[in-house]
Amino acid sequence: MDAILVRGNGPLKGAIPIAGAKNACLTLMPATLLSDEPLTLTNAPRLSDIKTMTQLLQSLGAEVTSLQGGQVLAMSSHDLTTLTADYEIVRKMRASNLVLGPLLARAGRAIVSLPGGCAIGARPMDIHISGLEALGAVIELKDGYLHADAPRGLKGAVIEQRFASVGATENIVMAATLAKGTTVLKNAAREPEIVDLVKCLRAMGAQIEGEGTGTITIEGVDRLHGATHQVVSDRIELGTYMIAPAIAGGEVELLGGRRDLLPSFCDKLEAAGVHIEETAKGLRVAHATGRVQAVDVKTEVFPGFPTDLQAQMMALLCTAHGTSTLEETIFENRFMHAPELMRMGAKIDVHGGHATVTGVERLKGAPVMATDLRASVSLILAGLAAEGETLVRRVYHLDRGYERVEEKLSAVGARIERIKGE
Ligand code: EPZ
Repeated sequence: MDAILVRGNGPLKGAIPIAGAKNACLTLMPATLLSDEPLTLTNAPRLSDIKTMTQLLQSLGAEVTSLQGGQVLAMSSHDLTTLTADYEIVRKMRASNLVLGPLLARAGRAIVSLPGGCAIGARPMDIHISGLEALGAVIELKDGYLHADAPRGLKGAVIEQRFASVGATENIVMAATLAKGTTVLKNAAREPEIVDLVKCLRAMGAQIEGEGTGTITIEGVDRLHGATHQVVSDRIELGTYMIAPAIAGGEVELLGGRRDLLPSFCDKLEAAGVHIEETAKGLRVAHATGRVQAVDVKTEVFPGFPTDLQAQMMALLCTAHGTSTLEETIFENRFMHAPELMRMGAKIDVHGGHATVTGVERLKGAPVMATDLRASVSLILAGLAAEGETLVRRVYHLDRGYERVEEKLSAVGARIERIKGE
C-alpha cells in the first residue's frame, strides 16, 4: 500500500486547479441508466471511486468509455444485461446504491446489495426505501440485497424526508423523472451536487423545479434523451486546499473555486483570521504564517458547514490560538482522525459527537494511519505545518477522493511525495 511523506516546509505560494466534484459525478453517472441514449460527462475527476462506479455500470451492461485521460466519460445504457448491483462492487463504495432509483424507473426492477457499514457510520438506507415505496415500489430485503419492484411503473407522490439525505434525494429525484404524474419531495437535500444533478436531468428532458431549496417538484415524462453535461467543481476538494495556506501560511489561488459552493465554510475560515478573495479565476486564500484564531464549528446539511470538511478543519484548529469546539451532527463516528492528530502532539478531547481542540504552537511529524477519505487528507494538512516528517499510511483512502494530491500540493511549494508500496 502506498504512503505519503510530508515535511513541514513553511508558507505555500501558487495556484491549485480544482477538479470536478466526486460526489456530483457519482450521482451523474447512474443517471445514464434513465435513458437509452448517450450521456457524456465532461470535467470528470480522475479518482478510484469513479473507476468503481464505471465497473458497476459496466456490470449492468452499460457502456462507459473514459476519454481525455478520464476527464470525459462517454456513457450509454442502451442494452442493460442485468438489474443486479453485485455486493462485491457495492461493498467498496456506498454510492453504488445510487443505481437503485434509475434502474427502478427505467426497468421497473432493481436488485441492489445493501452497502454495509463503513468507517464513519452504519449508513442505513431507510430514507431511500421509504421515498421509493411512496412512488409505488415494493422493496424487500433478502440475503443482504434490496429487491425492488415496480411492475406497474412508478407513480408521482408527495414525499417528506425525515432527514435531508443527499443520496436519498438523488435516488428519489432520478426515479421520479420517469414516474407517472407529479412528485413533490419535501425536506430535500440542497447540496450543490443535487443542483448539478438536476441541471443534467433537465438537459436530458426532465421537468424539475426547486433544486437547491428544501422542496423539489418533478413532473414525470415518458422518456429522457441523451445530453452532455459539465460536472460542477468539487467544493470539498476546494475547501480542503483552502486550508493548506491557512495551516502552513502563504497565499494560494484555487482555480475554479466559487464561494457560493461553501458559504458557511468560508465564513468560518474568515472568522479564524484567514483572508479569502474572489478572483477572475477562482478564490485566493492567504494567511500570514503563524496561527489562526480558535473558532467553534458545527456540521450541518447544506448550506451549513459540510461534514466532509470537519476533519480538515480540525487539523487547522490544532494549531489555533485558543480552544475550539467541533460538533459532528451528520455521522455518528467521524472523529477517527483525532487519535492520529494526537500522535502529532494535538490536544483533542472527544466525547460522542463533540470534540474540544486546544491549539498548540506547532505539531510534530509522526507516522500516522489514514482511516477514511477525509481523515487521510486532514493528516496531510497537519503534516504541512508540522515540524519534521509525517508518514501517512493507507493512502488508498485518499485516492478515492483526491486526484494527484502530492502533485497539486508540491506545485505550491509543499515538500510531499508518494512512497510506493509501503
Ligand atoms: C453523501 O453521502 C456524500 N457521498 C458524503 O460524502 C457526505 O458526507 C454526505 O452526503 C453528507 O453530506 C456522496 O455524495 C457519494 P446522507 P450520503 O444520505 O448520501 C443518515 C465523502 O467523504 N441516513 O446525506 O450517504 C446517514 O447514516 C462522503 O465524499 C439515514 O439514516 O449521505 C448519515 O448519518 C462521505 N438513512 C446521514 O443520514 C438513510 O436512508 C447523512 O447521510 C440515508 C442516510
